[in-house]
Amino acid sequence: MENYAETIKEFVENHAAGLTVVLVAGAGVLALRRWLAGGVCRSKARLEGKTVVITGANTGIGKETALDMAKRGARVILACRDMTRARIAADEIRQMSGNGNVVVKKLDLASLQSVRDFAKDIQENEERLDILINNAGVMMCPKWKTEDGFEMQFGVNHLGHFLLTNCLLEKLKKSAPSRIVIVSSLAHEKGQIHFDDINLDKDYDRIKSYRQSKLANVLFCRELATRLQGTGVTTYCLHPGVIRTELGRHLFPTLALWKRILAMPFMMLIKSPWEGAQTTIYCAVDESLENVSGLYYSDCSPKKVAPQALDDAAAKRLWDLSASMVGLA
Ligand SMILES: NC(=O)c1ccc[n+]([C@@H]2O[C@H](COP(=O)([O-])OP(=O)(O)OC[C@H]3O[C@@H](n4cnc5c(N)ncnc54)[C@H](OP(=O)(O)O)[C@@H]3O)[C@@H](O)[C@H]2O)c1
Ligand SMILES: *[C@@H]1O[C@H](CO)[C@@H](O)[C@H](O)[C@H]1NC(C)=O
Repeated sequence: MENYAETIKEFVENHAAGLTVVLVAGAGVLALRRWLAGGVCRSKARLEGKTVVITGANTGIGKETALDMAKRGARVILACRDMTRARIAADEIRQMSGNGNVVVKKLDLASLQSVRDFAKDIQENEERLDILINNAGVMMCPKWKTEDGFEMQFGVNHLGHFLLTNCLLEKLKKSAPSRIVIVSSLAHEKGQIHFDDINLDKDYDRIKSYRQSKLANVLFCRELATRLQGTGVTTYCLHPGVIRTELGRHLFPTLALWKRILAMPFMMLIKSPWEGAQTTIYCAVDESLENVSGLYYSDCSPKKVAPQALDDAAAKRLWDLSASMVGLA
C-alpha cells in the first residue's frame, strides 16, 4: 500500500507539467461542453389532467417538446400541417413516453381558415387548455405568400399564431393558471417592424423578413402579457439556442458549396433538439415562473431583449395591425 502511494507520488512529481496540461485541457473541454449544453429545465412538474397544444410538433424542437410534455403525463395535441408526418411523430412519442394520450390535429398556419377550424375544434371538443406552445416556424424561404396573401414568414411565424392564440384565449382563461409560450429567436435583435411595408412587397429580403417575424413574436408576447393581467394566463417568449433541426431547409440548398463546406466545423457547435427544447419546457412548466409574464428567456434564464422589443407603442401598433389583417375586430 505504502509502495503504491510512493509510486504515485513519484509519478506526479516527474510528470507535473504534463499532468497540468491534461487537467487544464480536460477542464477546458468540460467547460466548453457545459457552455454548449446551455440551460436544462430541472423542474419535475407533472402534467396529469392538463392539456398542451404544440404547433409544428412533427419535427425539430416542437417534437422534442411534445415528447417531454407526454412524459410528464399531459394530454398532448400536435398541431401540424402535414398529417402523415404528424401521425408518424405521434406514434413515436406515444411509444417513447408510454403516454397514449397524444393526438394530432390539422393546423396550417399559412391559412386563416385552417387556424379558425383548428381553434373551433379545440373550443368544442377539448375540456381544457393549460399550455399553448407557439413553436412552428419557417425561416428564410423565398418570397412566398400565405393563402391569404401575407408574406410567408410574417404570416406563419406571427399572424397565424396571433389569430390562433386569440381564438384559444377563452379556453386558456377558463383553465387558468395557464401559460402561452412563444418560440422566438435571437434573430429578433436585428429585427425591425416595417409598418409601411409589412409584407415586404417593395423590397423582399429573406433574412429581414425572418428577423421581423421573430421581433413580432417578442412584441406580441409583451402586449399579450399586459392584456392578460389578472386573468391567470401568463406569457413567455424565448430563444431556443442554435439547434440542429430542419429549419435551415430553405437556406442551405441555396448556399454555394464552399460556404456549406466552410460551415461544417461550426456544425459541431450546433445543439441537439433535446437541448433546444429545454427553454421552451422551462417556460411551460417551471414553478418559479408562475407569477411572471411577458418576459424573454434563453438557456433557461431570463434574458434582455433588444431595445426595439421593449417599445410598448410598437407592440400596441403591431397588435392593431395584426388584428385588422386577420380579421379580428
Ligand atoms: N433551430 C434553430 O436553431 C432555431 C433558432 C432560433 C429559433 N428557432 C425557432 O424554433 C422554432 C422551431 O423550429 P425548428 O428549429 O424546430 O425547425 P423545423 O425543424 O423546421 O420545425 C418547424 C416546424 O414548424 C412547422 N411549420 C412550418 N410552417 C408551418 C405552417 N404553415 N403551419 C404549421 N406548421 C408549420 C413545420 O412543419 P413541416 O414539417 O410540415 O414543415 C415543423 O413542424 C421556430 O419558431 C424557429 O424560428 C429555431
Ligand atoms: C405566486 O403568487 C402566489 C400568490 O401571491 C404565492 O402564493 C406564490 O408563492 C407565488 N409563487 C412564486 C414562485 O413566487
